[in-house]
Amino acid sequence: MNLRFLLPALMLTGLAACNWSKPDENTSTPKPSPIITTDEAKDLHSYARPHEARVTHVALDLTADFDAKVMRGTATLDLAVAKDAKEVVLDSKDLTIDQVTDAEGRQLPFALGKADPILGAPLTVQLGGARKIVVHYASSPGAAALQWLSPAQTAGKQHPYLFSQGEATLNRTWIPTQDSPGIRQSWEATILVPEELTAVMSAEMLTPKGEASEGGRLFMFKQDQPVAPYLIAIAVGDLAFKQIGPRTGVWTEPSMLAKSAAEFSGLEKFVTTAESLYGPYRWGRYDLLVLPPSFPFGGMENPHLTFVTPTVLAGDKSLVSLIAHELAHSWSGNLVTNATWNDFWLNEGFTVYFENRIMEAMEGKERAAMLADLGWSDMQTAAKEAGGWGAKDTQLHLDLKGRDPDDGMTEIAYEKGAVFLRTIEQAVGRPRWDAYLRSYFDRFAFKPQTSAGFLADMRATLFKGDKATEDRIGLDVWVYQPGLPKNAVHVRSTRFAQIDRAAADFAAGTLGPSPIVNSGPLGARDISDWSTQDYQRLLNSLPRKLPAAKLAELDKGFQFSASGNSEIRFAWLMLAIPNRYPPAAASAEQFLTGMGRRKFVSPLFQALQDQGEWGQPIARRIYARARPGYHSVTAGSVDKIVGWKG
Ligand code: BES
Ligand code: ZN
Repeated sequence: MNLRFLLPALMLTGLAACNWSKPDENTSTPKPSPIITTDEAKDLHSYARPHEARVTHVALDLTADFDAKVMRGTATLDLAVAKDAKEVVLDSKDLTIDQVTDAEGRQLPFALGKADPILGAPLTVQLGGARKIVVHYASSPGAAALQWLSPAQTAGKQHPYLFSQGEATLNRTWIPTQDSPGIRQSWEATILVPEELTAVMSAEMLTPKGEASEGGRLFMFKQDQPVAPYLIAIAVGDLAFKQIGPRTGVWTEPSMLAKSAAEFSGLEKFVTTAESLYGPYRWGRYDLLVLPPSFPFGGMENPHLTFVTPTVLAGDKSLVSLIAHELAHSWSGNLVTNATWNDFWLNEGFTVYFENRIMEAMEGKERAAMLADLGWSDMQTAAKEAGGWGAKDTQLHLDLKGRDPDDGMTEIAYEKGAVFLRTIEQAVGRPRWDAYLRSYFDRFAFKPQTSAGFLADMRATLFKGDKATEDRIGLDVWVYQPGLPKNAVHVRSTRFAQIDRAAADFAAGTLGPSPIVNSGPLGARDISDWSTQDYQRLLNSLPRKLPAAKLAELDKGFQFSASGNSEIRFAWLMLAIPNRYPPAAASAEQFLTGMGRRKFVSPLFQALQDQGEWGQPIARRIYARARPGYHSVTAGSVDKIVGWKG
């Protein structure tokens, strides 16, 4: 008998604000946002014991020291403390703690526990009645969240650059707080940066131009809404801004501004489209920051200011669904947040679903179907990599106990998660599903969520006792078991059927040279309107083994080795490398030393590594050149693939 069926009733009582003592008179957060107290919501990747003492507000006062490559200063934390609790436990990793005081400057005893390689070290502070504490500290030059770029690593080549990446558990390397997604905190920051640089953060900017100050320029930010602490983010560099719509715009280095603004000229429309689906955008501004190429992700949904890789600047807007994705996180992820990393799919699966709905509304059903169909293939690839659909990690609800959360974060959470929601949509019908989702985002706004909580809510508000529909979907099987249930809804692109035929014909060699103008490797097909996604599909659907002559024909016809479109270049190299196609080596070298987006970098190094005496020397040569430019997130993954030893 599955106990989970009994959980819904318990869940409703699980959201507790607890037995808090009154916060300080002058604290800016009167009511702490709730914490879920069920077992499923216990975060194994944080030392915090929030039901005893929890952080409700963080005030950072930091200097970005580009010479020492450290962030130095204070974090002032407002606490809600349960009756009888004497201490607060914070997360920290590689921090130097100088002292901890109360608001009046009186020293408070503290201890840094033993450091775990994944979790870092607990920082325990004896409160002596304090409800506000001030941690004086500095990050280390190797802080995993931060990348300090030399001028040579930027577009402008004149100034250094700093950016942070908090998700999943990296922010503890520069902010001593309770680094758990279920412990929401409002925050503010005052940041001192070198005179010629600009600081931006994932918050409202109080001083857009900064203020002259001794030793540099001061920038101030505030985030009144409580957010999960992984969403605190900063970038400092030679930055310029261009407005797109009334509440949208782009930040980037001056030389990237025109190109970025052109690529994302539809930004305001994305926001209004998202709002028309699932309710008001609740974060004020929605700006983008286009980062230098070492940014390890495609995008990161930092509130107010999505961080984006420059590899989406295809020049033809063909990769902008990534913006739909990060924007969708403003609801799924940032409003309603996975309580622990085991339920990462609640962030990403919902977001991929929502992303696709935005794309459908903006570009039509067939375009959306193409994107969803590519996602389906990515899901199948991820399942293979996990060890097949029988593997534990193909569950939506993960078990990351004792593991780096990063290890369990695969495309399964994204794509199987989205397919699950499409399957529910199909079972209950779009109007009912949309009404439900909209109310779900409203009711759980600014709250953490678990798988059990979501399922309980659907049972209570969507299915309302309609056991037949519920059973037809098989909610618990979807969430708590490996595999892909038979009822999974596979959205297919009709266009892709033709692409698949072209790929098969080409591979079978049935195409002769054709006299038609647009004939090429694919014969007399009209490829003049082929999109990036068509090429991705073509490259993914060609047989994995192809002779060099065939590859050369493709390369000559489409110039894949030199493609400036990152997705096409990647899909091409993932085909060419396993076939040991000689020109792939130089193309891979140029690509891998030019950007550090992990989604491209890791699989390509793996592909090289898999090619024994042909690929491994190439991998070693390229990595020696590329590694110094990578963020720790990317370097950490590739180190394992190529067996890098410092
Ligand atoms: N939140 C993720 C990025 C992330 C995931 C950071 C896990 C750290 C740990 C972001 O929204 C994301 O999913 N980015 C994707 C792009 C998206 C279009 C699928 C990426 O980076 O490729
Ligand atoms: Zn995402």
